[in-house]
Amino acid sequence: MRLDAILSRYGYCSRREAAQWIKRGRVTVNGVVAKSPSAKAELNEVLVNGEPIEFPDGLYVALNKPLGCTCSHREEGELVYDLLPQRWLNRGDGVSSVGRLDKETSGLLLLTDDGAFVHALTSPKRHVPKVYEFECSAPVPQSAVALFASGELLLNGEKTPCLPAELEITGECTGRLTLHEGRYHQVRRMLAAAGAPVEVLTRIAIGPLTLAELNLAPGEWAAIDPAVFA
Ligand code: URA
Repeated sequence: MRLDAILSRYGYCSRREAAQWIKRGRVTVNGVVAKSPSAKAELNEVLVNGEPIEFPDGLYVALNKPLGCTCSHREEGELVYDLLPQRWLNRGDGVSSVGRLDKETSGLLLLTDDGAFVHALTSPKRHVPKVYEFECSAPVPQSAVALFASGELLLNGEKTPCLPAELEITGECTGRLTLHEGRYHQVRRMLAAAGAPVEVLTRIAIGPLTLAELNLAPGEWAAIDPAVFA
């Protein structure tokens, strides 16, 4: 790839600005300061400001989403993308979240520039388990365990019942729910249907990835290996 194409594709600067970056000696190829934006190089030969190209094989990141920010590129107010380095957002393929969390839900959110990865993880056929911890404003009835597991719970406005989901009641008004699909406001709607409106909601795991093991404070992110979902 041309050096100016590499710099813009991986979000460092525009193709036009690449000439300046190179002139200032910020780019080396195999340890030699590059001179021309049109020179070609392999990604693994290039250093920018002394660092290898970031996420050369695709960006895969786990974020501990704080409360109050929205999973959208367009809406008003604070967005999850405001928490990420601008360089990532400038990458040629654009960064998006893998599914969404509500503005008032916190916890584990994956972000990537790999559309196929988004598709693979959100495809209803894959059934990747997602685990949520919740606190309700009313006691969670024991009968909700069987109702959610039955695969027969039909939410308002839906044509097909929810897939079987595992509910663990951990306290009078608290619990953990594992879903294998992702419908709009699904956890809140399922618990409301069982008579226990959700007040606090956090996603604590997606497949094998857990927020506890990632050890991220709200707003922090870490690179992940997409192969864990293979
Ligand atoms: N279910 C919800 O109700 N909200 C979320 O953000 C995710 C799942």
